[in-house]
Amino acid sequence: MADRTRAASPSQVKLAVFMHGNSNYHMAGWRHPDAYADSAENIERWTEFARTMERGKLDMLFIADSVGIYGVNNPELLSYRDAIEKFEPFTALAALSVLTKNIGLIATCHTTYTDPYTAARMFASLDQLSGGRAGWNFVTGGNREGALNYSRDSHMEHGDRYDRAEEFADVALGLWDSFEEDAFPRDKASGRYLDPEKMHILNHKGKHFSVKGPLSSARSPQGRPVLVQAGASEPGKQLTARVADVMFTAQASFEQAQAFYAHVKGRMASFGRSPDELKIMPGVSIYVGRTAEEAEEKFQKLNDLVPIEVALHSFSEMLGGIDLSVYPLDGPLPDFSGNSARMSSPPSYVKLARRENLTLRQTAKRAVAGRAHWMVKGTVKQIADELEHWFKGGAADGFNLLPAWLPGSLNDFVDQVVPELQRRGLFRTEYEGSTLRENLGLPKPRNAHTKAREAELVAT
Ligand SMILES: Cc1cc2nc3c(=O)[nH]c(=O)nc-3n(C[C@H](O)[C@H](O)[C@H](O)COP(=O)(O)O)c2cc1C
Repeated sequence: MADRTRAASPSQVKLAVFMHGNSNYHMAGWRHPDAYADSAENIERWTEFARTMERGKLDMLFIADSVGIYGVNNPELLSYRDAIEKFEPFTALAALSVLTKNIGLIATCHTTYTDPYTAARMFASLDQLSGGRAGWNFVTGGNREGALNYSRDSHMEHGDRYDRAEEFADVALGLWDSFEEDAFPRDKASGRYLDPEKMHILNHKGKHFSVKGPLSSARSPQGRPVLVQAGASEPGKQLTARVADVMFTAQASFEQAQAFYAHVKGRMASFGRSPDELKIMPGVSIYVGRTAEEAEEKFQKLNDLVPIEVALHSFSEMLGGIDLSVYPLDGPLPDFSGNSARMSSPPSYVKLARRENLTLRQTAKRAVAGRAHWMVKGTVKQIADELEHWFKGGAADGFNLLPAWLPGSLNDFVDQVVPELQRRGLFRTEYEGSTLRENLGLPKPRNAHTKAREAELVAT
């Protein structure tokens, strides 16, 4: 409610939690002695995680997703991975929306494998169900296997996927403006449910889509869901600068993250947007210990549980399907050039391997622990110092936490790191508002038709 809502402070970090369908970020996370190995399709486990996030006043729970399973042709290697079992994000988040009160709920939905009407409708419903906490990880889909489940022989080319995604975004934005805020008087006396003046038919006809509209949903509590983008290629960054509210990104060093931050925010002016309208949140994998050595030991123990063949299999997927069997395991990571499936992924691993002087074997092990994301291991103070440095140094507006195993990594963060961030004034002690936008400090977008009508009134 407006009178109880305090403005979110720009001097405080925003925190998301990256949840794979199976919930553990580290590939061997499920094998940790205290990990839940059965959380993938277990709503009680997910409710516990979401409530822990709310206890820590975290901003949002994000479910990553793909629409095909990589490596089904190699069941032996696949048999070591928990990535095969997962909830479909919308249905899981719909359940969580009524089991939680504050946490933002971000579903991944692939623009290559759905239609804008379906997606816009589902997100509008999730925003209504959750009282304004929905968000969309707007991905084109970097997984070739998805194509085979959607009646296609091959994965759509990178450029074509983004071309479709750009138009997809326009249609979705248009559909969410179908009804103005006060379009439904629902007046029993006159019998008028709808004010027809406040309904707008989109009539979109473009290269990829033909959509009449309107959407069968009133304007949702946030106006529209929070739009998250994570593709870091040229077209990915353009799309982010034009429409995204949040950007997730993998940046392994402060300098790299700082340059990326300035670069993406610098693109926004050409779309008439201010840099404050986008929150850039690099991923970070955190290991908390009483000493730095203990934190390192926690990390190594998990790594030792991953067979190298399984790590290579999964690393190949992260690279968009590059065949790694032709390269020497203990040689330097080859300089893979751009790949049509995941344009920005191979170069980021090459950069990481060069900086940390890693072989192919070591990079594969590093990748299944934390992909090309930043990793921080240490005491609570060391971790808080690092997060503060990135935030105050212009490398991040917040962080996308990658819990290695659950519930332990999440509990460590919420019970130990959050209080330290709060003590430093870097993180909220209470939610500022009831919607995700309010908590992120992002304004509620106004309906384009209402704005146009008001502008016309001023002009006359
Ligand atoms: C933090 C993060 C989360 C992502 N989540 C997903 C996901 O859930 N599903 C997916 O298909 N791709 C996901 N991606 C991949 C990107 O959305 C994008 O498809 C990939 O980076 C390739 O696009 P690009 O070439 O523009 O970078 C994620 C990337 C990052 C950095």
